Formats: sequence, structure tokens, C-alpha cells
Amino acid sequence: MTRVGIVGCGSISHFHHEGYHRAGARVAHVCDLRRDAAEQTAALYGAKATTDYHQLLADPEVDLVSVCTISSAHKEIVLAAIAAGKGVVCEKTLSDNPADSFEMAQAADKAGVFLATAYMKNYFPATQQAMRLLAEMGPVTSLHARTWQPYAMLWEDELHPVLRERPSVIARNYGGGVLVCGGSHILDLIHHIAGRPTRVCGQLQSREGMDVDRQANALLWLRDGGMAHFEAFWHPMRHAGYERNGWDERLEINTPAGRLNLSTVLWDHPTRNGALLVHEDAVSGKTTEYRYPAVNPFDIEMAEMVRRFEAGEPGYPSGWDGYVVDELIATITAGSEQGQVLAMQWRDE
Ligand SMILES: NC(=O)c1ccc[n+]([C@@H]2O[C@H](COP(=O)([O-])OP(=O)(O)OC[C@H]3O[C@@H](n4cnc5c(N)ncnc54)[C@H](O)[C@@H]3O)[C@@H](O)[C@H]2O)c1
Repeated sequence: MTRVGIVGCGSISHFHHEGYHRAGARVAHVCDLRRDAAEQTAALYGAKATTDYHQLLADPEVDLVSVCTISSAHKEIVLAAIAAGKGVVCEKTLSDNPADSFEMAQAADKAGVFLATAYMKNYFPATQQAMRLLAEMGPVTSLHARTWQPYAMLWEDELHPVLRERPSVIARNYGGGVLVCGGSHILDLIHHIAGRPTRVCGQLQSREGMDVDRQANALLWLRDGGMAHFEAFWHPMRHAGYERNGWDERLEINTPAGRLNLSTVLWDHPTRNGALLVHEDAVSGKTTEYRYPAVNPFDIEMAEMVRRFEAGEPGYPSGWDGYVVDELIATITAGSEQGQVLAMQWRDE
């Protein structure tokens, strides 16, 4: 049985430890700088609690470590876990810059250690079915990928005081705005669907007084000649989207063989509705709707992480996948600042 350690017992960590527990792994040791948070989580599983992650990494009863701290703290903890020979599942984004993420992916390879980046949207059954269909559909010619997320506070007449702090609470906790928070998931999906883009043109937009982006757009030149249109937006409409709750995250993927439309569901309440996939077959004219039960993708993800770790298979998404997203975020941001189309410079090519 895999024995798991959790570093960081904040909001996302619940999805990790509950997912591991349901998958039959043992949550053995947990850590948070806030002792009460560590102890509360530990009490759920009869696990050990610490405020010092080095103690958790020194524990021979920990095989696999989930890193659930804010992204700026990932690198130090992930590199220490790799050095300790532990398998690692790191929350997204892998780090807050591509140079660090590259170093982390490289370190895991060199040590022969399992490293995964937890982009859980790959584990919606609808996403997995899309990937299976795409394998037979030929190269992507055109991809429209968007994440629109409701964030009414950013549209109030007066900017909220916490957003006027420097850095703002969003910048401090997430290292960026909607591009980093929501857009990273979509960039990860674009990469899995169509490979590494070759060029990007980015545009970030905010409002006066905010230190992070509220809207991010990009055109991405795809490896096989197609184009991806990307938009991440914290918008004010409470009832937009497939679930009519303001969450409006959709990918339209076109190939010569047909079209896939994928709609995901509100990330932290995934068990209200199932993600939806619609396949339009360009040859037969047949349209197929894949309606799945409302499942928690984190549960599927954690079970798959444990299975892969035990089987000696690579993490999925891997550390390298995490690096790709962070390189795309940096290049979209640089392209927006420079007002230019930029060629992607992949550090491992
Ligand atoms: N997959 C998703 O959709 C998704 C959604 C939200 C957040 N996230 C990611 O999850 C991560 C955590 O976000 P969150 O919202 O849970 O943040 P959070 O602030 O709620 O929790 C982070 C916890 O880590 C602890 N911590 C920080 N540094 C530490 C250290 N050195 N040692 C031990 N504990 C430490 C903090 O005390 C806090 O309890 C971020 O990387 C974020 O990008 C992913």
C-alpha cells in the first residue's frame, strides 16, 4: 500500500488527501506551517503531523508526497522530496517560472523519481474520451479554448482594498491573475491535445489599480500547422455557461475528421453536473453526445497517480508537462509586454 505525505493543508489539499484515501492509499504524514491545519488533517487519518516538511521527507513511512503549498514554495519542497527519493505529485502550476520548472523536471529525471503535475482536468471522463477520439481524428486544424470564470468582485465600481495591496492577495497566493490561475489548466489541455506550440502572440488586460491580469488572450501556432485561440477571463456574468452558474469553460477542437466540443464544470463543485463531450463526425454527419455521471476528477486523478507510481509508470501530467505550461505562461506574458509574436524557446529542445 502506498503511504502518502501531504505538504500544505490549505484548500486544495482536501482533494488530494480525500482522493488518496478513497483510492486505498494511506495518508501517513502531513505538514503545514500552521500547526492547527496540519493536526486537523492528520486527525482524519491517524497520520503524523509536522510544521517542518524536512521531517515528513525524512519519514521512511512516506513513499509519495503531494505538494499543495502556494506555487512559489513548490520548487524548494519538490527538489528536497526528489533528493529524498520520494515520488512527487505537485499542484499546478509546477512553479512560478519556467526556469525553475525546467530544473524540477530535470532533477526528477536524473534521480529516476516519479514527478507529476496535478492538472486534474485531464481526468474528467469527458476529457479522457476526447483524447481517445482525437487519437483517430488526425491533426488539429483549429482550436478555440476558453475558460471564463465568474469573479464579480473584480467588477465592482470601487476596487476592493485587498486588491489595492501590493502585492495583492491574488498575486501573493497564485503568482499571477487569470492566466496563471485558470488559464494554466487550458494551456495544459491545449498541449495534450495538439502538442507544444511553436509561436505565440499574447495579450493580457486588467483594470486600473489591479496588479494581476483579469483577461488573457493568446494565439498559439500549433505544431502541425493549425491555430489555437485561447482566452481566460474573470468576468461579471453570474449565470453564463453550460451550468448557468457563471462557469464557462469550453474547448472546440477541429480536425479534418470532425469536431469535439468539451464543456467542463465548476472546478471545486464537480459533482453537481458531469462534464460534457459532443462529437460531430465530419464524414458520417453523425453527432454523439457523451454525458457522464458527475464525478470528482480529483478522485480519478489521485487513484491514477497511485496506480502509476506503484506500476513504475511516469506521472501524468508529468513534470515536463508542468514545465511546458509555465514556459507558455511566461512567453504569453512577454509577448503581451512586447506587443510581439514570439517563437517558443523550449529549454529541452
Ligand atoms: N487544481 C486546481 O484547480 C487548483 C485550484 C486552486 C489552487 N491550486 C493550487 O494549489 C496550491 C495551493 O493553493 P491553495 O488554494 O490550497 O492555497 P492555501 O493558501 O489555501 O494553502 C496552502 C497551504 O500551504 C501552507 N504552506 C505554505 N508554505 C508552506 C511550507 N513551506 N511548508 C508547509 N506548509 C506550507 C500554508 O500554510 C497553507 O495552509 C497552489 O499551487 C495553487 O495554484 C490548484
